[in-house]
Amino acid sequence: MKENVYLDNAATTWPKPEAVYHFMDRFSRDVGVNAGRGSHALAADAEQLVLQTRRLLGAFAGCFGPADRVVFASNGTDALNTAINGLVAPDSHVVTTGLEHNAVARVLNHARRDKRVEVTAVPGMPDGYVDVSAVAAALRSDTAALIVNHASNVVGTVQALDELAVMARGAGVPMIVDAAQTIGVLPIDMDKHGFAVVAFPGHKGLFGPMGSGGLIVAEGVELEGLRFGGTGVDSASEFQPRALPWRLEPGTLGMPGIAGLHAAQLWFRALGEQLDAGDLEPPWQYTPPADVEAALERALDVSAIEHARLCRLAMAHIHSVECAHIATIEQVLRSYADVTVLGCARTSAQVATLSFVHAHIDAQEVADRLDADFGVCCRAGLQCAPWAHRSLGTLDTGGTVRLSPGFFTDEQDLAQLSAGLAEIF
Ligand SMILES: Cc1ncc(COP(=O)(O)O)c(C=O)c1O
Repeated sequence: MKENVYLDNAATTWPKPEAVYHFMDRFSRDVGVNAGRGSHALAADAEQLVLQTRRLLGAFAGCFGPADRVVFASNGTDALNTAINGLVAPDSHVVTTGLEHNAVARVLNHARRDKRVEVTAVPGMPDGYVDVSAVAAALRSDTAALIVNHASNVVGTVQALDELAVMARGAGVPMIVDAAQTIGVLPIDMDKHGFAVVAFPGHKGLFGPMGSGGLIVAEGVELEGLRFGGTGVDSASEFQPRALPWRLEPGTLGMPGIAGLHAAQLWFRALGEQLDAGDLEPPWQYTPPADVEAALERALDVSAIEHARLCRLAMAHIHSVECAHIATIEQVLRSYADVTVLGCARTSAQVATLSFVHAHIDAQEVADRLDADFGVCCRAGLQCAPWAHRSLGTLDTGGTVRLSPGFFTDEQDLAQLSAGLAEIF
């Protein structure tokens, strides 16, 4: 029996690719200095790492404009706070969905209370989707932003971002996308859809470490900064520089996290190269660069467009592997008459996150027993998304048990879960 069967990848992916651990360690030992805060050679390497990671992440999310529009944050929540509060002025109106995580819902509730912002939250449907025409009907000429969760962190349903984007563009409303559950698994296509801001954690599908994240701000979109301080540039100025990324990035960056994201990007690319060469089976052959200089050189090996193409291949593969895992899990769950799987029948418009309830056993008890007796790590309750649970009808009944396998989940994990469920049910 495995000691830990980790099925909580919607919270954070674990483990990370070996290259991520390796390069964070290498960077911290060999170039562990501040970027943009000195003119010495080490600072220049650190600056290179930051600049390259901005470029790689921008391309990864389908944004091929200037790399300075990729702004680092400390997690998805931090990025969403920067995006929402930076865009939404007092006394304005915003539209969002009833499927949002608290990283949007609470920010909007505070804006409602403290800045008199009027919030229209279009209810989610019990199947975990939002009705696009209802969102369209909620947009007004004075709507400052449409804020949409790309995929539900409770049931994994993926919203029709393309349709929503066309509609928002038609109405002249900037769209903020919470890509927390999709980045690294589904393409984001920021330029193509004309999103105003894409906010993301670095520690989920991107395979960076916890404490990393970011946002990408489209050209022409002005976010007001919410925090102020040192930037390493324009130090004589009494106020925060207006230029990005400094306007939104005061203080020392999370350099080890950025190193992790850099390594993860090269890992995605290498996986894409392997798939592109027709090699569709593990083991994945990626050898992380031996040192920081080598990694910085490797990052420049291909154009941004080619990087994006290869990463897309990797993402499609990761998505299909994860969806196969969730299909297996769902099949097991549906064999129990007392179990209800929430949301809708699984289609490709979903990520590998599933929620269920048992008619007679409390969700938390199921999770506790899975953990204590079978080493299965999952998440019970409301998963920081009470709005979504209201839409699904599980807000007042203790929420659900959420299972979210990842790319590194294996058959033994799934067998151990099945054995646990058989024992409990
Ligand atoms: C949909 C969604 N948005 C935002 C967040 C917040 O991300 P973070 O935990 O990195 O702050 C999460 C985290 O689970 C999420 O699932």
